[in-house]
Amino acid sequence: MRLQNQREKIIIIDFGSQVTKLIARRIRDFGVFSEILRIEDLYKIKNYKGIKGIVLSGGPSTVTKKKYLKIPKEILQKKIPVLGICYGLQLIAKLFGGSIKSLKGKREFGRAILYKKRNSLLTKNFFNMKNKSVWMSHQDAVIKLPKGFKIIASTRESKLTIIENSKNKIFGVQFHPEVTHTENGKEIFKNFLFSICKIKKKWKVISETDRIIKDIRQTVRKDKVICALSGGVDSSVVALLANKAIKKNLICIMIDTGLMRKNEFQDSYNIFKKKYKLNVKLINASKLYLKKLKNIQNPEKKRKIIGNLFIKIFEKESKKYKSLRYLAQGTLYPDIIESRSATGSQSSKIKSHHNVGGLPRKMNLKLIEPLKEFFKDEVRVLGKSLGLIDSIRNKHPFPGPGLAIRIIGNITPQKIKILQEADHIYINELIKHGLYDKIWQAYAGLLPIKTVGVMGDSRTYEYTCLLRAVVSEDGMTADYFNFPKDFLDKISNKIVNGVPGINRVVYDITSKPPSTIELE
Ligand code: XMP
Repeated sequence: MRLQNQREKIIIIDFGSQVTKLIARRIRDFGVFSEILRIEDLYKIKNYKGIKGIVLSGGPSTVTKKKYLKIPKEILQKKIPVLGICYGLQLIAKLFGGSIKSLKGKREFGRAILYKKRNSLLTKNFFNMKNKSVWMSHQDAVIKLPKGFKIIASTRESKLTIIENSKNKIFGVQFHPEVTHTENGKEIFKNFLFSICKIKKKWKVISETDRIIKDIRQTVRKDKVICALSGGVDSSVVALLANKAIKKNLICIMIDTGLMRKNEFQDSYNIFKKKYKLNVKLINASKLYLKKLKNIQNPEKKRKIIGNLFIKIFEKESKKYKSLRYLAQGTLYPDIIESRSATGSQSSKIKSHHNVGGLPRKMNLKLIEPLKEFFKDEVRVLGKSLGLIDSIRNKHPFPGPGLAIRIIGNITPQKIKILQEADHIYINELIKHGLYDKIWQAYAGLLPIKTVGVMGDSRTYEYTCLLRAVVSEDGMTADYFNFPKDFLDKISNKIVNGVPGINRVVYDITSKPPSTIELE
């Protein structure tokens, strides 16, 4: 959190909505830096000088109850423009004397049609939408305008859908302009940023590269840094940044768990060693991983075993170096946002992601997380500025536990081999057909079910391969990719003919939610 940083920015106060991150994304896409703050972070701000606008996010709290999430009214009276979204609007109304009521039987979820009442700086070009529909997700509605506010637009269920106090530059929208389902939602942000906050389009990810390198150099000085390099986008960018900053004092460790895609490990090692001339040490721990994972079926147990082993090996390795004081990690901004909660309560854990918060509490190494302010696609831009080759820069995300969570049930060397072959065929075909870059993440998984098939004149009894391909903005939600039928035909044929052990291929057509992207 760079609260002391004086650069121009928009702050987003997070009241716990699932889509708060998208607000930051939309704003950054306009070339403006934005930062998500928890309520408690607000009290740490000493100087509001660089803050050109405040966005209040949505969230599950309700101002109709006695106890609700709030911020001091003074923060909204600093002559800094404010935009409240959903709960943010209701909070503005509450703080300035309006009334809010629970809609109960008339909740608005999903699309709603908007009716314009008057012009506003916030809505320039916004009402040009074709379907006039916005995305709603609320149970409470503002029923009485706070003093000094006007209605800009309504829906059937909520009269006060867009409100403004133009004199004090305070605006509120009941719908979610940050989600793609709201047509023209970007216009709301554009107007807020440039017509209302008058912030300049100054921020570019790429111009952050030199600052990050300088920061690493200044922090580390003459000490050594260890970096866990997997060959994925994030750790590769961290390694290149740290290499630029401290050269030989960077030690990259690649742990081969035996759970990577076919050839991936050796290929990445060669690239970093030969092309980028990094100081890379390869540790082959595949036998150890297999041994520890033997007969383990439970997904969380698998994750824990893999994560703990990784840390053990890593700690043992780091003890071999003198004046090694730092560990560089590819933690991203969404990782930070997701691993904390707006309200301070523990949000429900779906899966243990071992690279976030999975490090031992009593670790002697200090963390360097140069990517902790960035989103994945921004990291890809940083990668470009560092000369990272496209095949790594545009790689789909790959989970730390690797193929272990794509093989349902117990893991054996035979199953790993089968899956690696099927996955290899699938990914190569995606690349060949120009589909790889259209998909956010694709992989093959192995289901523990054997079914009967017939090949030639013989009966087969083999495993089922599951193909997954999703489009997503950040991995939090996802839709399955709509393949042309010809592609599915071809891929099924290639896998069944080319991979002994598989006689059936299925395509996963669930979105997230209710499924997750990975199988375990
Ligand atoms: P799920 O399965 O939760 O995955 O929908 C969301 C995104 O997170 C990735 N993922 C992981 N990444 N370590 C990681 O670095 C992990 O343990 C892990 N588990 C899931 C997943 O591939 C998807 O991109």
